[in-house]
Amino acid sequence: MAKSRTPARYAFGSVKVNSGDWHSQILEVNESSSERVVESYTRLAPVYELWARLTETRPRRRVLEMAAPRDGDAVLEVAVGTGAQLVELARRNPSGRTVGVELSEGMLKRARKRVADAEFGERTDLVQAGALDIPFEDRSFDLLVNAYMLDLLPRSDIPIALAEFRRLLRPDGRLVLSNMTVGESRRHRVWDALYSRGVNLTANCRGVLAVPVLEELGFVHVRREYMSQFGFPTEIVYAEKPSTDPT
Ligand SMILES: C[S@@+](CC[C@H](N)C(=O)[O-])C[C@H]1O[C@@H](n2cnc3c(N)ncnc32)[C@H](O)[C@@H]1O
Repeated sequence: MAKSRTPARYAFGSVKVNSGDWHSQILEVNESSSERVVESYTRLAPVYELWARLTETRPRRRVLEMAAPRDGDAVLEVAVGTGAQLVELARRNPSGRTVGVELSEGMLKRARKRVADAEFGERTDLVQAGALDIPFEDRSFDLLVNAYMLDLLPRSDIPIALAEFRRLLRPDGRLVLSNMTVGESRRHRVWDALYSRGVNLTANCRGVLAVPVLEELGFVHVRREYMSQFGFPTEIVYAEKPSTDPT
């Protein structure tokens, strides 16, 4: 008789998740229209870096360490926002191509200015596109970075976005995510508690858990770090596309 596979069980602080059941451990988004979310980021673009200074500086540093771009890599950042992280990725990849996509017009304008000021020339490019349908060929990138965007998507879109990232990576390609996540202490859970009552202090973000979804999609070498800045909980997740992946 064939042995049934024991379902994986994950523990994220006090949050326990059985594989296939991550949906029930995260909140659904209050705003599910991507047009509305993206419009709100156009309005927030002028002040976004103030929020980032409060909550994202340490996670951004750790993302760059975990991503460790190798000179000559083909690098894609999805949802670049104002382009702060894209510029750092491009600096570490002087002879490779670094490309960013972003859906919000206001964010894209700021990212374009930042990239132009950095004078990288043609090796860096920005494209207006959404994360669920990114206009590049399969297996185009060695490294894909995505920060604080999965936490804005409806639950059902999270696997679609991660499958799209997998499509774009070459075999052995590296994925580094940072997401608002489920708080591991009472203080860190305040944001989600307010969000669930309709108090939107987090620009539409709520805590998510990427690891079970990545495992379901067949990513390998998945690891996760948890950190908080200003009480704002972030997970930083590293994963690779398998070397044998035929897609
Ligand atoms: C919280 S901001 C993070 C920006 C940047 N990654 C950072 O860490 O500074 C979220 C960004 O995701 C973008 N965004 C939201 N939904 C998107 C989608 N479906 N496709 C691409 N970008 C999206 C927003 O326009 C916004 O710039």
